[in-house]
Amino acid sequence: MSNTGQVAIVTGSGSGIGRAIALHLSELGYQIVVQDISSQRAQETCELISSQGGTSINVVGDVTSPADIERTVAETISMWGRIDVHINNAGFCQVKTFMDITLDEIKKMFEVHVFGTFLFTKAVVPHMQARGYGRIINIVSAMGNGGSEFTSHYQAAKSAQQSLTRSAAISFIKDGITSNSVSPTTVDTNLFHENDENFRKYLGHSAGDELKRRAAGIRTTPVEAIDIARAVGFLAAPDSYHINGQVIGI
Ligand SMILES: NC(=O)c1ccc[n+]([C@@H]2O[C@H](COP(=O)([O-])OP(=O)(O)OC[C@H]3O[C@@H](n4cnc5c(N)ncnc54)[C@H](O)[C@@H]3O)[C@@H](O)[C@H]2O)c1
Repeated sequence: MSNTGQVAIVTGSGSGIGRAIALHLSELGYQIVVQDISSQRAQETCELISSQGGTSINVVGDVTSPADIERTVAETISMWGRIDVHINNAGFCQVKTFMDITLDEIKKMFEVHVFGTFLFTKAVVPHMQARGYGRIINIVSAMGNGGSEFTSHYQAAKSAQQSLTRSAAISFIKDGITSNSVSPTTVDTNLFHENDENFRKYLGHSAGDELKRRAAGIRTTPVEAIDIARAVGFLAAPDSYHINGQVIGI
C-alpha cells in the first residue's frame, strides 16, 4: 500500500458495505474519513484500517444533520486540506407493508438516503471545485428500480437517490467532478438482520432465511461487500474521468 495523499469520506462506514469500501480504499492508498452515526462501529473500522497499515479519522455524526455534515467536512479539511472522493453510503432498510408505513417512517427514509446524499454532496463539492477534481459515488440499490409489497418507502428513496446521482453528474462535470452510483442486489449485512423481527412478522421467516432464499435464486456465488467496494475503487480512480452519471449494478 502506498499513500496517494488522496482523501475519501465514506458515510456509514462503521459496518457492512461502507466498512468494506473504507478498507478497500485504504488499501488503494486513500486516507479515509470514517463517518457513522455509531461511535463504536466507526472506531472499529478505524482500528481495522490501522491494522492494515492505513490512515483514517473517525468523525461520528448523522447524515441527516447539516451541523454534523459541516463538522465532518471541516475536520477533514483541517486534517488533510482536501476531499478527493465522497461516498454516500449510510443507510438502512425497513420491512413493512405499504399500509403500515407511517408518514414519519417514509420521511426518515428520505432524510437519510435522499436529503443526506443531497446535503453531503453540497458540502463536499466546493472543496472539489477548488481543486478541479472530485469523485462522488452513491450506494443506491437494485430495489430502487422497482417496487415491492414490503419496502415501498426504501425503494422510493433509493430511486430518488439515483436521480440525484445523475443531476450531480450533469451539474459538476465542468469542474472535473464525476458522480456515479453502485447498485448492490443482496449483501449479507446488518441491514437485513436488523429487520429480523419484521421479516418474521410480515413474511413469516427470519432475515437469515430471506438471505438463504435470495442466495438460492441466483446462479453465482453471493455478492459480498468487497464486490461493491471494488466497483467503488474503480469509479474513484482518476482515470475513470469519462464515466459519469452511470450506475454499476452488482
Ligand atoms: N445490504 C444490501 O443488500 C444492500 C443492497 C442494496 C443497497 N444497500 C445500501 O448499502 C448501504 C449500506 O448498507 P449496509 O447493507 O452496509 O447496511 P449496514 O446496516 O451494515 O450499514 C449501514 C451503516 O450506516 C450507518 N448509518 C445508518 N444511518 C445513519 C445516519 N443517519 N448517519 C450516519 N450513519 C448512519 C449505520 O450505523 C451502519 O454502520 C445503504 O445505503 C443500503 O441502502 C444495501
